[in-house]
Amino acid sequence: MSADSVPSDPSSHDDVDPTGLAAGKQAEGTMDTGANEPIERSGLHHWRESTITDPDLNDRGGVFFAAIEMTRMPMILTDPNLDDNPIVFANKAFLDLTGYEEEEILGRNCRFLQGSQTDRNAVAELRHAVENKSAVALELLNYRRDGTPFWNAVFVGPVYDTGGTLRYFFASQLDVTRRRNTEQSYRQAQKMESIGQLTAGLAHDFNNLLQVVNGNLELVATAKDPARAQRYVAAAQSAAERGAKLTRQLLAFARKTRLEPRPLDLTQLVSEFSDLIESSVNKQVEIHLSLRRGLAPVVVDPDQLEMALLNIVNNARDAMPDGGLVTIATRPLKLQPVENGDGTGGTALRDGVELAAGDYVVLEVQDEGHGMSPEVIERATEPFFTTKGVGSGTGLGLAMASGFVRQSGGRLEIESRPGEGTTVRMLFPSGHAEKREPAAPEPHVAASAIVDPDTARHILVVEDSDEVLAIAREILESAGYHVSTAANGEQALRLFDEIHPRDRVDLLFTDLVMPGGMNGLVLADAVVERDASVSVLMTTGYNEELVINGPRARATDVLSKPYRRAELLDRVSQALNRRGERGSRRRRSDFGAAQV
Ligand SMILES: Cc1cc2nc3c(=O)[nH]c(=O)nc-3n(C[C@H](O)[C@H](O)[C@H](O)COP(=O)(O)O)c2cc1C
Ligand SMILES: Nc1ncnc2c1ncn2[C@@H]1O[C@H](COP(=O)(O)OP(=O)(O)OP(=O)(O)O)[C@@H](O)[C@H]1O
Ligand SMILES: [Mg+2]
Repeated sequence: MSADSVPSDPSSHDDVDPTGLAAGKQAEGTMDTGANEPIERSGLHHWRESTITDPDLNDRGGVFFAAIEMTRMPMILTDPNLDDNPIVFANKAFLDLTGYEEEEILGRNCRFLQGSQTDRNAVAELRHAVENKSAVALELLNYRRDGTPFWNAVFVGPVYDTGGTLRYFFASQLDVTRRRNTEQSYRQAQKMESIGQLTAGLAHDFNNLLQVVNGNLELVATAKDPARAQRYVAAAQSAAERGAKLTRQLLAFARKTRLEPRPLDLTQLVSEFSDLIESSVNKQVEIHLSLRRGLAPVVVDPDQLEMALLNIVNNARDAMPDGGLVTIATRPLKLQPVENGDGTGGTALRDGVELAAGDYVVLEVQDEGHGMSPEVIERATEPFFTTKGVGSGTGLGLAMASGFVRQSGGRLEIESRPGEGTTVRMLFPSGHAEKREPAAPEPHVAASAIVDPDTARHILVVEDSDEVLAIAREILESAGYHVSTAANGEQALRLFDEIHPRDRVDLLFTDLVMPGGMNGLVLADAVVERDASVSVLMTTGYNEELVINGPRARATDVLSKPYRRAELLDRVSQALNRRGERGSRRRRSDFGAAQV
């Protein structure tokens, strides 16, 4: 370690002791590197580095020395001019903190306090500070002599002599284990509370829906009048639809939605939605559009964006029971490397997401409603958090919107003050529009047509849930298809090998996520490898697999659950029509990565 170059000139030290014997550079509100000060705030007076006239360590007669030995704050000095910067002085509190005797530590570098669980990044920060002769304050895990770990809030700063030579490093330590543990259990408790709230919310909403479905089915079972039975069935179906919408919102919140992103102009998209938006608010609410032309494209899923925007506009409507103005705006935004301020000074939520500097497009919804308190802003994007009465809000609107925006690589921001309206912003990254082929328009084939039994196509249905399998089979058979079934990938492949040679399988209809070694993607690849002319349709409740494994199956290959009868029949006949045309072109990777 070289100690002769001086990074900051000690003669510039502003705080000179009245005796003229020592001087220091004051903190003046700056935080030390590491920003974890033992005094929990940026101080004004304390010195971050100092200059001394008397470097003698053996002058121990004064009251200051007594103070150092009496304080409960551990302190040490190290000598950077000796090999490996060893400890040359340790006060009594340091011995008490660490459990060592003085002679065991003098002459040793402080790293003996570190151990297996010590964060190497924190150690590197200390090393850099020592190398740069700069002050640093941070917390890291250290170990006492008897091996027990403790969280150490350590401050290190340089001490120069009047010639500008670095003579010592001073350090103070503090055991902050109790505070860290409290913080951790608090966070854990908060997490448990959120999970409890989520579960309770889900249970509540699904119980209601199940009640409606079951109740109506029971009524159907005993109904004598067909018209009545129809009504019961319709009521049950509509409750099931609401359940499906609930899970869609939840999946969006969990960022597990199968997105179909396309490069889009947000301005154009919002213009297209404007009728729908108008119709979702009441007459007293006026919608004003302020849309910038010529925006860079953003890559988003238009259906999800529509849902997110509607959720946000509906919130604006709800916040203005007596009417008012809602302004929907689009504009470009450049994020600088370091973000400063939130622009308007209102309380803001950035949804905990750090975005890379660069070009973004903002879609903003501003209302003149009752606004939100900081506590509400803080929790607004939590699923099932609602301030609306029972039955009027599920608390999934902003959860969905924020999950969707995040999954699209952006961030949701909320700015609001009670009584002063609310601005909700969705930021989407622009520019890198790696263009995905727009899905080819599908020839539409009427779904309800019954298949001619003579030419009945053979479908292999693979699904691990018995009930779902039974329904798929029922729907397909009732439409005249010839159906074989398997409960998992391995079974399906065995069955395929056995029946295909004599009873040709025209379509593989498989669940994507299945237990066992073989998921839908792997199965599809194996089947297509055996006979490339077999069509494939996959189905899934969400497709984490595809998202994780990169290349996405084409939209036309995957049917989302829950699906309706007409949808299934539509997609099956489309898949069958694609036969041959695709088989020869399909490569292994067409379904995404094939490992599980
Ligand atoms: C004055 C001073 C006090 C230090 N106090 C501690 C300490 O309490 N705990 C610790 O883990 N490291 C402490 N260190 C850091 C280590 O001594 C050492 O600088 C760090 O481990 C990085 O260097 P290395 O990568 O060579 O180990 C201190 C360093 C100095 C200069
Ligand atoms: N524009 C707004 N003005 C004032 N408060 C808002 C606004 N948007 C959201 N909030 C607050 O955030 C809460 C959560 O909003 P969110 O959209 O997630 O759920 P919700 O509107 O209560 O229910 P849901 O949208 O599922 O019907 C709301 O209950 C409300 O307190
Ligand atoms: Mg809402």
